[in-house]
Amino acid sequence: YTPVVVAVDGPAGSGKSSVSRAAARALGFDYQDTGAAYRAFALHAVQSGVDLDDAAAVIAALPAFDYEIGTDPDETFVRVDGRDVTDEIRTPRVTSSVAHVSKLPEVRQHLVDLFRRIIQGTSKPGIVTEGRDITTVVAPDAQVRILLTASEEVRMARRSAEVTGQSAEETARQLSRRDQQDSRVVDFMTAAEGVTTLDSTHLDFDQTVQAVVELVRSTA
Ligand code: C5P
Repeated sequence: YTPVVVAVDGPAGSGKSSVSRAAARALGFDYQDTGAAYRAFALHAVQSGVDLDDAAAVIAALPAFDYEIGTDPDETFVRVDGRDVTDEIRTPRVTSSVAHVSKLPEVRQHLVDLFRRIIQGTSKPGIVTEGRDITTVVAPDAQVRILLTASEEVRMARRSAEVTGQSAEETARQLSRRDQQDSRVVDFMTAAEGVTTLDSTHLDFDQTVQAVVELVRSTA
């Protein structure tokens, strides 16, 4: 049999990570957070002493990038070069440096290959993979493709509830700067043909998860 692939894209603060993980858990599927890999690679590059503005040096850091992700939704972890970096990749320092590496086509190609291998390697009945270009580039042939959106106001409110130690204004500023940078590389704001838009502006967390689960059950 072929595992069911569920592709979820969306902007920062749309809730795609937590929603995708909870949906994977409910379905008994694996879960892959591709943003974690871009974050992990940015961290790897910085720790290798690379200047992130030096594109050639960033690309040269790719072959030594030793990345491992836990795809069990109950036990997600990220390891880089054998070290657990699950929490470190969420720090503001890493968050603000990711765009320097994710804009490079060589980096994207390397990671897209990695994501496809992880999708193909699932031992579960399916996998939920989440990011910015999953429905269009990583897995355009996924059985279920979802663009998870929410109004900018709601995304900012959700994100600032998550982030501690800085003002809501600062969080909002960072979020819109990141959206702007990211949308220059991939369009994750408009649904590609055949992609279902799920607007969570007026849904709570459980309702959003339920909507994803129902989409999977009715399509796949
Ligand atoms: O999803 P998350 O916010 O963790 O992603 C971190 C960064 O990784 C994004 O801001 C974007 O630059 C990059 N990214 C990407 N393509 C993906 C997933 C993430 O470019 N599929």
